[in-house]
Amino acid sequence: MNKNTIDFGYQEIPVEEKKERVKNVFDSVAGKYDLMNDAMSFGVHRLWKNLTITKINPQPREILIDVAGGTGDLAHRFLKRAEAVRVRRGGESATAYICDINDQMLLAGIDQIKNKNNISRVCGDAQKLPFPDNCADVLTIAFGIRNVTDRQSALTEFFRVLKPGGRLFVLEFSTPEDKNLRKIYDTYSFSFIPKIGNLLAGEVESYQYLVESIRRFPSQNKFSSMIETSGFSKVSFRKFSGGIATLYWGWKI
Ligand SMILES: C[S@@+](CC[C@H](N)C(=O)[O-])C[C@H]1O[C@@H](n2cnc3c(N)ncnc32)[C@H](O)[C@@H]1O
Repeated sequence: MNKNTIDFGYQEIPVEEKKERVKNVFDSVAGKYDLMNDAMSFGVHRLWKNLTITKINPQPREILIDVAGGTGDLAHRFLKRAEAVRVRRGGESATAYICDINDQMLLAGIDQIKNKNNISRVCGDAQKLPFPDNCADVLTIAFGIRNVTDRQSALTEFFRVLKPGGRLFVLEFSTPEDKNLRKIYDTYSFSFIPKIGNLLAGEVESYQYLVESIRRFPSQNKFSSMIETSGFSKVSFRKFSGGIATLYWGWKI
């Protein structure tokens, strides 16, 4: 790969174009994003997000930044779980900031959030987060990091905004190792997902990009090393659904 180019799905494009191209993808799918998520994954993304929240174990008073948070699905689940603990044990409510580069995605989620008091939406780039140093207890990014142009600099930003003792959780698609599962998964992704995208959202190219970008994402071991390179300790990961998705985590110590 040329130093001045970067992957955009299976295409190589100039580095400076990626941000705009990714923005166009999510502009086109924003209105149908949640419906498509359910249709493409048969609702399994909900299970992966719930498993992620169980691993985080949200607590009252905690401050979450959900980067590339889109319509706010994960932040909503975080607050709900923290509130359930608060009702049992008392304390202050948790707070969540949904940060996304795309205002259309943030707007698409605005009606879904029931308790609007402890949740804020902020338009911002993962590579240059609009938050001060050492301000968050938990930082999540679900199905967002693979869209970021410079992932290493985004991980360094995540480290900067987390408090000492804060935790990072990255949920991302990955490629299953099992040959048979990979065959089924490839057939499904390349033959059906763009068709479902066309049927439900009138979009083929955006969903083609989403499928291709998953295949270009680094392996679990490589991505874990990138997390460590940004300063995180005790980095580990867990595969979901045979490795179709992976949850990575690390601590700022
Ligand atoms: C596949 S969606 C995931 C949304 C949500 N996290 C979820 O799990 O449903 C990816 C999101 O990443 C956002 N995104 C892409 N590049 C970004 C960047 N550089 N900084 C912040 N958000 C970004 C997109 O606008 C989009 O909302």
